[in-house]
Amino acid sequence: MDIDLHDYIATTPDFPKKGIMFRDINPLIGNGPAYKQAIDQLINFASPLKPDIISGPEARGFVIGSPMAYEMGIGFVPARKYGKLPRKAVSSSYGLEYGHSELQMHVDAIKPGQRVFVVDDLLATGGTITATIDLIRQLGGIVVGCGFFIELEDLHGREKIMETENIPFIALLEY
Ligand code: PRP
Ligand code: HPA
Repeated sequence: MDIDLHDYIATTPDFPKKGIMFRDINPLIGNGPAYKQAIDQLINFASPLKPDIISGPEARGFVIGSPMAYEMGIGFVPARKYGKLPRKAVSSSYGLEYGHSELQMHVDAIKPGQRVFVVDDLLATGGTITATIDLIRQLGGIVVGCGFFIELEDLHGREKIMETENIPFIALLEY
């Protein structure tokens, strides 16, 4: 029987700022069967879209994207926070539920025409994933779908992702 992944999300009010209900995935990724089920569910969604690459933003996108890429036998491309990459990179700035940031990707990380499935742990306002999608498109990649453990529905991130184009979407849990 499937595990109810809701049981592995810890909720903390007023973190990191007053008014934010923080949904923490650490109990989920800390439990072998729950983590495996969540990653397998995302792989089952992503596989028919035939991606060449999985991509995800620092830091928690790496925890989702790396095991997916490994299992699917394809590459993982990280979108890193500003100033971490050693070689020439493209950049994209974005606003967050609590602040703002900038992501970067090496210019040779994705080849024009490559099919990319994008992942992160959680979709809030959509700023982070939209910046990741922007980087992929700057490099000529085709975003074939996106997946998350959690979607915070009230923040309308999904609508932000779909502003430019409809992309196949999955979120395992909704709050
Ligand atoms: C969190 C979360 C997502 C993003 C979601 O990361 O892991 O990446 O915020 O918010 P958004 O949809 O409003 O952009 P955070 O920026 O806190 O970085 P971290 O993973 O390095 O802690
Ligand atoms: N949990 C974890 N990360 C987040 C959240 C949250 O509720 N909101 C924005 N990033």
